[in-house]
Amino acid sequence: MSAEPIVHLNGEYLPIGQAKVSVLDRGFIYGDGVYEVIPVYGRKPFRMPHHLARLQRSLDGIRLANPHDDAQWSALVDALVARQPFDDQSVYLQVTRGVAKRDHAFPLGVAPTVFMMSSPLPTPTPEQVERGVAVVTAEDNRWHRCDLKTTSLLGNVLMRQLAVDADALETVMFRDGLLTEASASNVMVVRNGIVLAPPKDNFILPGITYDAAADFTRAAGFAFEIRPVTRAEALGADEMWLSSSTKEVLAVTTLDGRPFAGGRPGPVFKRVHATFQAGKR
Ligand SMILES: Cc1ncc(COP(=O)(O)O)c(C=O)c1O
Repeated sequence: MSAEPIVHLNGEYLPIGQAKVSVLDRGFIYGDGVYEVIPVYGRKPFRMPHHLARLQRSLDGIRLANPHDDAQWSALVDALVARQPFDDQSVYLQVTRGVAKRDHAFPLGVAPTVFMMSSPLPTPTPEQVERGVAVVTAEDNRWHRCDLKTTSLLGNVLMRQLAVDADALETVMFRDGLLTEASASNVMVVRNGIVLAPPKDNFILPGITYDAAADFTRAAGFAFEIRPVTRAEALGADEMWLSSSTKEVLAVTTLDGRPFAGGRPGPVFKRVHATFQAGKR
Protein backbone atom coordinates (compact mmCIF):
# COMPACT_ATOMS: atom_id res chain seq x y z
CA MET A 1 0.00 0.00 0.00
CA SER A 2 1.21 3.49 -0.87
CA ALA A 3 2.27 5.80 1.98
CA GLU A 4 -0.05 8.43 0.52
CA PRO A 5 -3.79 7.99 1.12
CA ILE A 6 -5.69 6.59 -1.85
CA VAL A 7 -8.57 8.75 -3.07
CA HIS A 8 -11.21 8.39 -5.75
CA LEU A 9 -11.44 10.88 -8.60
CA ASN A 10 -13.90 10.33 -11.46
CA GLY A 11 -13.70 6.55 -11.33
CA GLU A 12 -9.98 6.26 -10.66
CA TYR A 13 -8.22 5.33 -7.41
CA LEU A 14 -4.94 7.15 -6.98
CA PRO A 15 -2.59 8.60 -4.32
CA ILE A 16 -3.94 11.95 -3.13
CA GLY A 17 -0.91 13.82 -4.49
CA GLN A 18 -1.73 12.63 -7.98
CA ALA A 19 -5.44 13.55 -7.85
CA LYS A 20 -5.81 16.77 -9.87
CA VAL A 21 -8.81 18.80 -11.02
CA SER A 22 -8.91 21.63 -13.52
CA VAL A 23 -8.79 25.23 -12.31
CA LEU A 24 -12.00 25.64 -14.31
CA ASP A 25 -13.84 23.11 -12.16
CA ARG A 26 -16.99 24.85 -10.96
CA GLY A 27 -16.29 23.56 -7.49
CA PHE A 28 -13.13 25.69 -7.49
CA ILE A 29 -14.56 28.70 -9.33
CA TYR A 30 -18.02 28.93 -7.70
CA GLY A 31 -18.19 26.40 -4.88
CA ASP A 32 -20.80 24.86 -7.20
CA GLY A 33 -21.10 21.42 -5.69
CA VAL A 34 -22.41 19.35 -2.83
CA TYR A 35 -20.76 16.95 -0.40
CA GLU A 36 -21.28 14.36 2.29
CA VAL A 37 -19.25 13.18 5.27
CA ILE A 38 -20.00 9.61 6.29
CA PRO A 39 -18.63 8.14 9.52
CA VAL A 40 -17.43 4.55 9.20
CA TYR A 41 -17.15 2.38 12.31
CA GLY A 42 -15.22 -0.86 11.94
CA ARG A 43 -15.26 -0.41 8.13
CA LYS A 44 -19.08 -0.21 8.16
CA PRO A 45 -20.65 3.10 7.08
CA PHE A 46 -23.04 4.48 9.74
CA ARG A 47 -26.54 5.31 8.44
CA MET A 48 -25.47 5.09 4.80
CA PRO A 49 -29.03 5.24 3.37
CA HIS A 50 -29.61 8.49 5.28
CA HIS A 51 -26.42 10.03 3.85
CA LEU A 52 -27.34 8.97 0.32
CA ALA A 53 -30.86 10.39 0.73
CA ARG A 54 -29.40 13.70 1.92
CA LEU A 55 -26.92 13.70 -0.99
CA GLN A 56 -29.83 13.29 -3.41
CA ARG A 57 -31.70 16.10 -1.66
CA SER A 58 -28.65 18.40 -1.94
CA LEU A 59 -28.17 17.51 -5.62
CA ASP A 60 -31.86 18.17 -6.31
CA GLY A 61 -31.51 21.47 -4.46
CA ILE A 62 -28.75 22.64 -6.80
CA ARG A 63 -30.34 21.01 -9.88
CA LEU A 64 -27.47 18.62 -10.57
CA ALA A 65 -28.17 15.08 -11.76
CA ASN A 66 -26.88 12.36 -9.48
CA PRO A 67 -24.02 10.62 -11.32
CA HIS A 68 -24.57 7.36 -9.41
CA ASP A 69 -27.44 5.36 -7.97
CA ASP A 70 -27.38 4.28 -4.32
CA ALA A 71 -25.93 0.84 -5.07
CA GLN A 72 -23.09 2.43 -7.04
CA TRP A 73 -22.37 4.94 -4.29
CA SER A 74 -22.30 2.17 -1.70
CA ALA A 75 -19.89 0.17 -3.83
CA LEU A 76 -17.65 3.22 -4.32
CA VAL A 77 -17.59 3.97 -0.60
CA ASP A 78 -16.85 0.32 0.23
CA ALA A 79 -14.03 0.25 -2.32
CA LEU A 80 -12.49 3.42 -0.87
CA VAL A 81 -12.85 2.17 2.71
CA ALA A 82 -11.16 -1.11 1.74
CA ARG A 83 -8.15 0.83 0.44
CA GLN A 84 -7.44 2.56 3.79
CA PRO A 85 -5.21 1.00 6.46
CA PHE A 86 -7.51 1.99 9.39
CA ASP A 87 -10.94 0.70 10.47
CA ASP A 88 -12.82 3.77 11.75
CA GLN A 89 -13.00 6.31 8.95
CA SER A 90 -14.53 9.57 7.86
CA VAL A 91 -15.43 9.34 4.20
CA TYR A 92 -15.73 12.67 2.39
CA LEU A 93 -17.36 12.74 -1.02
CA GLN A 94 -18.18 15.66 -3.25
CA VAL A 95 -19.87 16.17 -6.58
CA THR A 96 -19.35 19.40 -8.49
CA ARG A 97 -20.97 20.70 -11.68
CA GLY A 98 -17.79 19.83 -13.56
CA VAL A 99 -15.31 21.69 -15.73
CA ALA A 100 -16.52 24.44 -18.08
CA LYS A 101 -15.66 27.91 -19.37
CA ARG A 102 -16.37 30.36 -16.57
CA ASP A 103 -19.99 31.47 -16.82
CA HIS A 104 -22.54 31.50 -14.02
CA ALA A 105 -25.13 29.68 -16.16
CA PHE A 106 -25.15 25.89 -15.87
CA PRO A 107 -22.94 24.37 -18.60
CA LEU A 108 -24.60 21.91 -20.97
CA GLY A 109 -23.37 18.36 -21.50
CA VAL A 110 -20.64 18.54 -18.86
CA ALA A 111 -19.83 15.54 -16.67
CA PRO A 112 -19.85 16.26 -12.94
CA THR A 113 -16.62 15.86 -11.00
CA VAL A 114 -16.76 13.12 -8.36
CA PHE A 115 -14.11 13.17 -5.64
CA MET A 116 -13.90 10.97 -2.55
CA MET A 117 -11.32 10.62 0.20
CA SER A 118 -11.21 8.97 3.59
CA SER A 119 -9.37 9.91 6.78
CA PRO A 120 -9.10 8.32 10.21
CA LEU A 121 -12.36 9.12 12.04
CA PRO A 122 -11.60 11.92 14.52
CA THR A 123 -13.93 10.85 17.34
CA PRO A 124 -14.22 13.07 20.44
CA THR A 125 -11.56 12.71 23.11
CA PRO A 126 -12.54 11.29 26.52
CA GLU A 127 -11.83 14.74 27.94
CA GLN A 128 -14.30 16.39 25.54
CA VAL A 129 -16.94 13.84 26.50
CA GLU A 130 -16.34 14.04 30.24
CA ARG A 131 -15.71 17.77 30.66
CA GLY A 132 -17.77 19.15 27.81
CA VAL A 133 -16.72 21.72 25.24
CA ALA A 134 -16.65 25.48 24.79
CA VAL A 135 -18.71 27.45 22.28
CA VAL A 136 -19.14 31.07 21.36
CA THR A 137 -22.36 32.56 19.99
CA ALA A 138 -23.02 34.74 16.95
CA GLU A 139 -25.82 36.03 14.76
CA ASP A 140 -26.36 33.63 11.85
CA ASN A 141 -25.53 35.62 8.70
CA ARG A 142 -25.42 32.73 6.23
CA TRP A 143 -27.69 32.35 3.20
CA HIS A 144 -31.22 30.93 3.37
CA ARG A 145 -30.39 27.45 2.01
CA CYS A 146 -28.43 26.08 4.94
CA ASP A 147 -30.39 22.83 4.41
CA LEU A 148 -28.24 22.02 1.36
CA LYS A 149 -24.85 20.47 2.04
CA THR A 150 -22.99 22.57 -0.50
CA THR A 151 -19.25 23.01 -0.83
CA SER A 152 -19.83 26.80 -0.68
CA LEU A 153 -18.95 26.97 3.00
CA LEU A 154 -17.45 30.42 3.43
CA GLY A 155 -20.18 31.50 5.84
CA ASN A 156 -19.53 28.42 7.97
CA VAL A 157 -15.74 28.86 7.69
CA LEU A 158 -15.97 32.42 9.01
CA MET A 159 -18.24 31.28 11.84
CA ARG A 160 -15.95 28.43 12.81
CA GLN A 161 -12.97 30.79 12.93
CA LEU A 162 -14.75 32.92 15.54
CA ALA A 163 -14.71 29.83 17.75
CA VAL A 164 -11.07 29.06 16.97
CA ASP A 165 -10.10 32.65 17.79
CA ALA A 166 -11.75 32.24 21.20
CA ASP A 167 -10.21 28.79 21.89
CA ALA A 168 -13.65 27.25 21.56
CA LEU A 169 -14.86 24.28 19.52
CA GLU A 170 -17.90 25.75 17.87
CA THR A 171 -19.93 28.86 17.13
CA VAL A 172 -23.60 28.48 18.02
CA MET A 173 -25.80 30.71 15.87
CA PHE A 174 -29.09 32.53 16.27
CA ARG A 175 -31.21 34.04 13.53
CA ASP A 176 -33.90 36.56 14.43
CA GLY A 177 -33.87 35.40 18.04
CA LEU A 178 -34.09 31.68 17.22
CA LEU A 179 -31.45 28.98 17.60
CA THR A 180 -30.30 27.63 14.24
CA GLU A 181 -27.18 25.44 14.44
CA ALA A 182 -23.40 25.70 14.81
CA SER A 183 -20.77 26.17 12.09
CA ALA A 184 -20.38 22.41 11.53
CA SER A 185 -22.82 20.84 14.00
CA ASN A 186 -26.48 20.79 14.92
CA VAL A 187 -27.46 22.12 18.32
CA MET A 188 -30.10 20.92 20.77
CA VAL A 189 -30.92 21.93 24.30
CA VAL A 190 -32.47 20.23 27.32
CA ARG A 191 -35.11 21.94 29.42
CA ASN A 192 -36.92 20.14 32.25
CA GLY A 193 -35.71 16.77 31.01
CA ILE A 194 -37.02 17.32 27.46
CA VAL A 195 -34.62 17.62 24.53
CA LEU A 196 -35.60 20.49 22.23
CA ALA A 197 -34.27 20.73 18.68
CA PRO A 198 -34.94 23.37 16.01
CA PRO A 199 -37.03 22.14 13.06
CA LYS A 200 -35.18 20.95 9.97
CA ASP A 201 -36.14 23.93 7.85
CA ASN A 202 -34.01 25.86 5.35
CA PHE A 203 -31.95 27.46 8.12
CA ILE A 204 -30.18 24.32 9.32
CA LEU A 205 -28.50 21.32 7.80
CA PRO A 206 -30.62 18.20 8.35
CA GLY A 207 -27.93 16.37 10.31
CA ILE A 208 -27.78 12.61 10.18
CA THR A 209 -26.47 12.69 13.76
CA TYR A 210 -29.43 14.96 14.69
CA ASP A 211 -31.70 12.07 13.68
CA ALA A 212 -29.46 9.58 15.45
CA ALA A 213 -29.51 11.78 18.58
CA ALA A 214 -33.32 11.90 18.38
CA ASP A 215 -33.50 8.10 18.14
CA PHE A 216 -31.00 7.56 20.95
CA THR A 217 -32.72 10.19 23.15
CA ARG A 218 -36.03 8.38 22.78
CA ALA A 219 -34.32 5.00 23.28
CA ALA A 220 -32.89 6.37 26.53
CA GLY A 221 -36.42 7.23 27.67
CA PHE A 222 -36.49 11.01 27.13
CA ALA A 223 -38.76 13.12 24.95
CA PHE A 224 -37.20 14.72 21.83
CA GLU A 225 -39.33 17.66 20.81
CA ILE A 226 -38.79 19.44 17.50
CA ARG A 227 -39.85 23.08 17.63
CA PRO A 228 -38.33 26.58 17.34
CA VAL A 229 -36.03 27.32 20.30
CA THR A 230 -35.60 30.95 21.30
CA ARG A 231 -32.28 32.49 22.24
CA ALA A 232 -33.54 32.95 25.80
CA GLU A 233 -34.57 29.29 26.00
CA ALA A 234 -31.21 28.16 24.65
CA LEU A 235 -29.12 30.41 26.87
CA GLY A 236 -31.19 29.50 29.93
CA ALA A 237 -31.30 25.76 29.16
CA ASP A 238 -30.29 23.02 31.60
CA GLU A 239 -28.04 21.47 28.93
CA MET A 240 -26.88 22.25 25.41
CA TRP A 241 -25.52 19.63 23.02
CA LEU A 242 -23.67 19.66 19.71
CA SER A 243 -24.17 16.83 17.24
CA SER A 244 -22.27 15.88 14.10
CA SER A 245 -20.84 12.84 12.39
CA THR A 246 -17.41 13.38 13.91
CA LYS A 247 -18.51 14.89 17.27
CA GLU A 248 -21.31 12.36 17.83
CA VAL A 249 -22.94 14.22 20.76
CA LEU A 250 -20.98 16.59 22.97
CA ALA A 251 -22.17 18.71 25.89
CA VAL A 252 -21.54 22.46 25.94
CA THR A 253 -20.08 23.50 29.29
CA THR A 254 -18.57 26.89 28.42
CA LEU A 255 -20.46 29.55 26.46
CA ASP A 256 -18.96 32.89 25.48
CA GLY A 257 -16.16 32.37 28.00
CA ARG A 258 -18.40 31.61 30.98
CA PRO A 259 -19.41 28.28 32.56
CA PHE A 260 -22.64 27.03 31.04
CA ALA A 261 -25.19 24.69 32.61
CA GLY A 262 -23.14 24.28 35.77
CA GLY A 263 -19.95 23.81 33.79
CA ARG A 264 -20.40 20.02 33.58
CA PRO A 265 -22.18 17.68 31.17
CA GLY A 266 -25.71 17.10 32.45
CA PRO A 267 -27.55 13.91 33.37
CA VAL A 268 -29.61 13.69 30.16
CA PHE A 269 -26.46 14.04 28.06
CA LYS A 270 -24.74 11.26 29.99
CA ARG A 271 -27.60 8.82 29.46
CA VAL A 272 -28.03 9.64 25.78
CA HIS A 273 -24.29 9.60 25.13
CA ALA A 274 -24.05 6.11 26.66
CA THR A 275 -27.00 4.93 24.54
CA PHE A 276 -25.33 6.43 21.45
CA GLN A 277 -22.04 4.63 22.18
CA ALA A 278 -23.80 1.31 22.62
CA GLY A 279 -25.86 1.75 19.46
CA LYS A 280 -23.50 3.30 16.96
CA ARG A 281 -21.85 0.17 15.58
C1 LIG B 1 -23.55 23.27 9.28
C2 LIG B 1 -23.68 21.87 9.76
N1 LIG B 1 -24.73 21.54 10.51
C3 LIG B 1 -24.88 20.28 10.99
C4 LIG B 1 -23.95 19.29 10.72
C5 LIG B 1 -24.15 17.91 11.27
O1 LIG B 1 -24.49 16.99 10.26
P1 LIG B 1 -24.15 15.45 10.39
O2 LIG B 1 -24.77 15.00 11.68
O3 LIG B 1 -24.81 14.81 9.22
O4 LIG B 1 -22.68 15.30 10.41
C6 LIG B 1 -22.85 19.59 9.93
C7 LIG B 1 -21.86 18.53 9.63
O5 LIG B 1 -20.74 18.75 9.30
C8 LIG B 1 -22.70 20.91 9.43
O6 LIG B 1 -21.64 21.23 8.66
